[in-house]
Amino acid sequence: SPFYLWLAVIFIISRSNASHLKNNGVFPKKFIFGAATAAYQIEGAWNEDGKGESVWDEFVHRSPSPIANNETGDVACDSYHRWKEDLHLVSNLGMQYYRFSIAWTRLFPDGYVGKKINQAGLIYYKKLIQEVVKLGLMPVVTLFHWDLPLKLYQDGISWTNDSIIDIYVNYTRQVIKHFPEVSIWITVNEPRIYCRYSYGLGTLAPGIKESGILDYQCSYVILKAHAAVYRMYKKEFPLYKAPMSIVVDCQWYEPETNKTADIQAADRQQQFECGMYYHPVFIGDWPSVVVERVAERSKKEGYKKSRLPKFTMEEIKFIRGTHDYLAVNHYYTFLAADEPEAPYNHTDYDNDVRVINSRSPDWALASNKYAIVPWGVRRVLNWLKQQYGNNMIIITEMGTSDDGSSLNDYERINFYCDYFCEILEAMQIDRVKVIGLSVWSLMDNFEWNAGYASHFGLYNINFHNDTTLRRTPKRSVGFFKMLNKTRKLHC
Ligand code: NOJ
Repeated sequence: SPFYLWLAVIFIISRSNASHLKNNGVFPKKFIFGAATAAYQIEGAWNEDGKGESVWDEFVHRSPSPIANNETGDVACDSYHRWKEDLHLVSNLGMQYYRFSIAWTRLFPDGYVGKKINQAGLIYYKKLIQEVVKLGLMPVVTLFHWDLPLKLYQDGISWTNDSIIDIYVNYTRQVIKHFPEVSIWITVNEPRIYCRYSYGLGTLAPGIKESGILDYQCSYVILKAHAAVYRMYKKEFPLYKAPMSIVVDCQWYEPETNKTADIQAADRQQQFECGMYYHPVFIGDWPSVVVERVAERSKKEGYKKSRLPKFTMEEIKFIRGTHDYLAVNHYYTFLAADEPEAPYNHTDYDNDVRVINSRSPDWALASNKYAIVPWGVRRVLNWLKQQYGNNMIIITEMGTSDDGSSLNDYERINFYCDYFCEILEAMQIDRVKVIGLSVWSLMDNFEWNAGYASHFGLYNINFHNDTTLRRTPKRSVGFFKMLNKTRKLHC
């Protein structure tokens, strides 16, 4: 009867968590959605068509293998050959952009920009970008997503010393010159994760374990390299309109109690993570709490000077302001507590904070054992606004992983739905200028040291039992199609 029908309608409306939002949870017309990938994680063809090796190609072939199940990115999703099909997947989702990265060694096999660019590599990205544009999508390009040319590394040129800066600028100049169609540029992806795990804890290539020394050195060099690319771009390509920035990953740290010490500890953690990179770029120099803590620790340990490199005044000025928008990746929320005088065990930061696996029992747990805390993203966005001003923000990655055992990925759909709701609140209520968001990831791929066990994709690939590497839509594909069609959250 009509009565029950109405009751059902009212029930559905009241359950929809977007119903309290303005416009009933509709994203602004100009808001752009996209899907993200990275070269080493999807391309495969690791030694084809003149491509040189990167540190990742060497790392995954080490024995014993540093990767779960001895897996490698040799074939990965084979996107080097299936790029056209993959671009159709993005367009099938109704997305507005595709974020991907350029493999440096496909263009310049040993990393140096000699006289010749590797033609096959150039043609690959030319065709790819042309097709992206043809499909009505915007190409969003990451210039460095962790695959440093091996030859450079063997020559002692790496992110821990300044000699890489000019070489990196030369490489990026060529990319920028050859691909004027690019809509948005990203210089470096997640320098925090990269520096910390590649040069500090040694779980990412090239696997160096000099925590508290080389990871800081890497942060210092990578910020200068980012700024050098930005300044070169502005000077040498005045007719290009595409904005450029650096992607920083920013998780959320909620104080474990409302004691001042814990509140300060949570903020300290935030400064030691995303503040390390945003502060130099948006304000200038390292965050002061980072400078103080590392100096104190270093002194106690008997170092003559701080383990954290010091920026000169020129360097501070050179790095400050090198952004056209703010790019952030967000995945997780943790609890943080003050832990005074914590022994420095070379796996923690120098910041006297306890966070390892710390979560509130009230928070829902995903099957991957990470907490699902939708309001974490709203707090991150507000924190960014409060710290660095009201910049245009693109969330360049957000996503959740599972074991890939089911195509009915309701957990992923709920994750995106609830997080998107919080993002809309940040936009509508807190007036944070979020202008776009890309999901991590378009399809299941090589998740670095976790290999193929961790599935982040909207499309499933069964790496273990299906050699065809068929891309199969998960249920979340339907969610994104609907979202892109109606621009409205249907939860
Ligand atoms: C961030 C990195 O940019 C990406 O390469 C990685 O796969 C995802 N996070 C998921 O961990």
